[in-house]
Amino acid sequence: MKALAPLLGAAVATAALAQPAVPPPAVGSYPAQAAEVQRWIDRGDVARIRAHAWDVWASINRPVKAQGGQPVWQTWYSGHELFEVGAGAQQARRTVLPFETARQVHHPHQPNIPRTPAEQPTAFNRFSPSVAAYIWDKGLNDSAVLDRINAQFDRRGTPVRQRELQTSARATDARSIVTKAVFQFIDGQQPTAVPVWTGISPPATVNLDNPSADTWRRCVVVDPTGRLKPGSTVSLPCNAEPAKPWPVVRLKDFYAIRLTAAQAAAFSSFAEASGDDVGAKNKTDAASLQAMVKAGNVALLMAMHVTTKEIANWTWQTFWWGANPQDPLYGADRPRRIGAPWSHYNMTTAYFMTLPASDPAGEPWIAFNPYLETNLTGTVPGPGGTPIAWTGVHSNCMSCHRMAAWKAAAKPGPGQYGDSPAYQPSGFIDPADAALFGGYTKLDFLWSLTRAAPRR
Ligand code: HEC
Repeated sequence: MKALAPLLGAAVATAALAQPAVPPPAVGSYPAQAAEVQRWIDRGDVARIRAHAWDVWASINRPVKAQGGQPVWQTWYSGHELFEVGAGAQQARRTVLPFETARQVHHPHQPNIPRTPAEQPTAFNRFSPSVAAYIWDKGLNDSAVLDRINAQFDRRGTPVRQRELQTSARATDARSIVTKAVFQFIDGQQPTAVPVWTGISPPATVNLDNPSADTWRRCVVVDPTGRLKPGSTVSLPCNAEPAKPWPVVRLKDFYAIRLTAAQAAAFSSFAEASGDDVGAKNKTDAASLQAMVKAGNVALLMAMHVTTKEIANWTWQTFWWGANPQDPLYGADRPRRIGAPWSHYNMTTAYFMTLPASDPAGEPWIAFNPYLETNLTGTVPGPGGTPIAWTGVHSNCMSCHRMAAWKAAAKPGPGQYGDSPAYQPSGFIDPADAALFGGYTKLDFLWSLTRAAPRR
């Protein structure tokens, strides 16, 4: 291995130089002025908000010709690069290549964020160049920096509302986008029944509280060998369902990647421990992923969270592979110019926490991704302190992300350098609420910053 390292490093460096992170291009209403987005929010104009979310989708999926036609977001920095390699967090996964450091390369015209190209295609979180550069340059992936900022707020007696850091130079930055992709790993040599989201009801899932992918009762068959005819039906078992005829869909209907040995080996602990990627038996734990993340197998993009800093509270939209891409609520308004495979994904938005948006006592707006939030459970204090149980299907992106905050960990351990307040799943969250945020630094809605670790 040692003798190989310089050679590999050089090869990877050339590749990285030729593959800069590409900023999101302008498409339709994207990038929008903050005042304009705010007008949609104030009017509760969900149609305009959804039209904008589709434009964001079109922007980040624009093929980059100079990089093999891969979508723009695939050129961005990964959470692994920013927070594991960059911040020097402990590499939890033993299979991560021992010559990792030799593979870190730097692009001269971009921030010195280490790139690990083999890990990129199946990376979990992605950061557009502007937000990645800001986090890197200000050291916001470094737990010591976050500790210092929080200690300064303590010393100065900063009011709770202002105990917040920013991840952009100005209050908004329309080019700052963060995404979270969910891949399902399937066998590359034979057909697989892949469960699909058809909502929350007994015919759709065996668990109405936590309807995660391993509970779904409807499936499609994906055949990476191309032998089965799309449109035909094939009987296969799926989750707890007995073998039933499921419709065969084309691999081309997904954004799909056939894994190379290098990509399988570089699968990051960040992605493996996310609890969100889907592996063997539609389970999301590390062992189920390890069973499927192998050369020759196929990664299907099943879902993606996307947030843009076009407004100070960020815009929140989320996408998932649609059993019915023309779903009247979540897909039918998709513009026709969005082509395959992106036209197979449905979408919902959370540009506000309550309706009306300006009313803290307004009706809580619910928006979740069937892959990313359905496994969540928690409690919040209710009347008289009696806890109210909640699950992810009662959540709102903006409410929960408003809670992202940091103080030095009471019990630091590997990967645990800060403490955060408990999740609030939905409803209006007041950034000046001392009961929620006293003693903390708010992290500009980015939960991933809680992965900050001591820099090497
Ligand atoms: C109950 C809390 C909760 C809810 C609800 C929630 N998220 Fe998150 N989200 C998190 C946490 C925690 C992370 C950090 C995951 C990680 O990096 O390991 C995260 C990560 C992300 C990221 C990666 C960037 C970052 O730093 O936070 C994006 C983008 C994102 N979520 C978007 C969304 C969208 C869109 C929705 C709504 C459809 C949503 N989230 C709902 C808790 C939540």
